[in-house]
Amino acid sequence: MSTVFDKIVSLCKRKGFIFQSSEIYGGLGAVYDYGPLGVELKRNVKESWWQAMVYQHDNIEGIETAILMHPTTWKASGHVDAFNDPLIDDKASKRRYRADQLIEDYIEKLRKKGKDDPAEALHARFVEALHADDMPKALHQIIIDEEIRAPDSGAFDWTEVRQFNLMFETHVGPLAGGDNTIYLRPETAQGSYVNFHNVQQTARQQIPFGIAQIGKAFRNEIVARQFIFRTREFEQMEMQYFVKPGTQKDAFEAWREKRMQWHLDNGVRPEKLRWHEHDKLAHYADAAFDIQYEFPFGWQEVEGVHSRTDFDLSRHQEYSGKKMEYFDPQTQERYIPYVVETAAGLDRTILVLLSDAYREEEVEGEPRVVMGFHPKIAPIKAAVFPLVKKAGMPEIAHAVEEDLRRHAKVFYDERGSIGKRYRRMDEAGTPYCITIDGDTLDDGTVTVRDRDTLEQIRIPKDNVVAFVQDKVRDGKPRS
Ligand code: GAP
Repeated sequence: MSTVFDKIVSLCKRKGFIFQSSEIYGGLGAVYDYGPLGVELKRNVKESWWQAMVYQHDNIEGIETAILMHPTTWKASGHVDAFNDPLIDDKASKRRYRADQLIEDYIEKLRKKGKDDPAEALHARFVEALHADDMPKALHQIIIDEEIRAPDSGAFDWTEVRQFNLMFETHVGPLAGGDNTIYLRPETAQGSYVNFHNVQQTARQQIPFGIAQIGKAFRNEIVARQFIFRTREFEQMEMQYFVKPGTQKDAFEAWREKRMQWHLDNGVRPEKLRWHEHDKLAHYADAAFDIQYEFPFGWQEVEGVHSRTDFDLSRHQEYSGKKMEYFDPQTQERYIPYVVETAAGLDRTILVLLSDAYREEEVEGEPRVVMGFHPKIAPIKAAVFPLVKKAGMPEIAHAVEEDLRRHAKVFYDERGSIGKRYRRMDEAGTPYCITIDGDTLDDGTVTVRDRDTLEQIRIPKDNVVAFVQDKVRDGKPRS
């Protein structure tokens, strides 16, 4: 892990963005809690996604389906049989790794060393292995042939590669075992598919239309790493777009463009985002691309855009015995729609925003750490300070705070020097600090300090609410 990443993780705990789950008991691996700043960040990201997907499209409906679903759902979707990771153990350290990730990381290392030809050749072999009948064996052979060593121990003492199902099991009712086993959902998508008719009919939508939802998903990740990047409990923001067969390519391209734009609109630097085409398409997909972000630990997926054909609805029709067809009133045709899916991780988006916002600077010879969040994403929109705790300044500051509090998350602070108060808000990513000072008493104006430019302007105190609202709504690109 790079030092920058360590600093981001430590800032998250210190400032109250993210904590280890059940920390007082030693924590639970790959499960995290969101603190006061983290939960605001999360709400803002959800809001930004909901606005962009549901409110800005008259043919997209939002829903919220249950985490627990009828177990046949997961047989139909293929998760019971095929939702596996290929795992390999280092016998020396007893640590477990994903075989495909070991190889991908090794290819990336070759590329970084300028060994492009061997990297390309190995990549081609890797893709072949992913498609092999005996995929675990083919991946194992690559690891052996390339003498890929365990990242932690440096040993070259591997077990075979085995497949491991990622779904968490639990039981309905008081008895364990038998046929009352159910699963914690590993994706939100299936909840949208099984409700296809309910939504289409009640919302009176016609194809093409989409179903969007934000919700928890669970995967028993064996190799959970990099903080909130890969966790066992996480949230997804997924949209399933139902189209007429044959039109999926156009929908796929249109959604790719819109989804990349969403990340840019959240203020993420364009040079840190790229597209990555899947090396291996799932058997039901006819196209799949990931949006990747360059995290401090390298380029990794944040969102997938998948063209899933009619696989899911056909399988639910087969397993439930209920028709999943759509009747087109214009053309009088009946067909099972194709699906284009946009699948973003909420926690992973949060990690993108934290990684992208973090910066260290020197201001007048003093170091400062700033979280340069876009104002619409920032957990706290404005802080209000009285310059000193006397001369009526706290009273005016509280009145400004009260006004703002009706519209946005604000923070009042009268402790410590003004410089220290600014630094605390820089680390929280608060875009505007409003100070009530001597001039406020004379002319009713306040100082507004910009987190990024450090510029200070004076505005009438009665204009503070409108000022902050404008900035949050319109935002501004990262400086
Ligand atoms: N319905 C399709 C689907 O679930 P996915 O690529 O497996 O596709 C979509 O997941 C997104 O969910 C990923 O791009 C990632 O952002 C997020 N995600 C998946 N597994 C995760 C995990 N263990 N921890 C955090 N986020 C995860």
